[in-house]
Amino acid sequence: MSEAARGVVSLAPSILAADFARLGDQMAAVELAGFADRIHVDIMDGQFVPPISFGTLICPALRSATRLDLDVHLMIVRPDRYFAELAEVGVRTVSVHLEACPHVHRDLGEIRRLGMRAGLALNPGTPVDHASEVLDLVDQIVVMTVNPGWGGQPFLEGSVRRVAAARALADAAEHPIDIEVDGGITVRTAPAVVAAGANVLVAGSAVFNHPGGIAAGLRALEEAAQALR
Ligand code: DX5
Ligand code: ZN
Repeated sequence: MSEAARGVVSLAPSILAADFARLGDQMAAVELAGFADRIHVDIMDGQFVPPISFGTLICPALRSATRLDLDVHLMIVRPDRYFAELAEVGVRTVSVHLEACPHVHRDLGEIRRLGMRAGLALNPGTPVDHASEVLDLVDQIVVMTVNPGWGGQPFLEGSVRRVAAARALADAAEHPIDIEVDGGITVRTAPAVVAAGANVLVAGSAVFNHPGGIAAGLRALEEAAQALR
């Protein structure tokens, strides 16, 4: 039985909301808190999305700063240029956007060929069904619950239906597929997405900007995610 089927929910803190001047300390605080099993790394190129966040060179720095898995979300055009480099660093999961990849079938296959887990991210305006043609090549569907590019945006309420549609696709596949939600995940929005079938929750602001600190933010999210179970 997959972890998702057992109701295990993973938390993936997004370092986009971290204090970049104290990144190592913040990684240590996430790891010490004990609720997260991966770090979400939002790479933006100023083209696919307007902002430029940081480049792939942050990955070796993170790899040496934490034992947690790295879950890299590429919001860039031609992401295939960086797959080999990310594999070399020891990245566990790479997600690419369907909207950025005319050759998404080839790209997902290449990510896996290099020994990483392949994620397919879908913008709020993209029908979830578009994932169906490449499902065999996907280990994770990233349902964007905001328009990508910025942290701290409000959760798009229509997203719950999209999460349920992604979960239905995943459950029909012959291998386990994670349903990751990304954007506006808080103690208020987490219960509904978990109930709809999400099993990986990305959270930036709710973790790094929590008034009680990183551990308190993680604990609150964990409690909210388990509330319906
Ligand atoms: C948005 C990024 C998200 C972002 C989430 O484009 O993909 O991962 O960091 O931030 P919050 O949790 O603050 O909405
Ligand atoms: Zn992200």
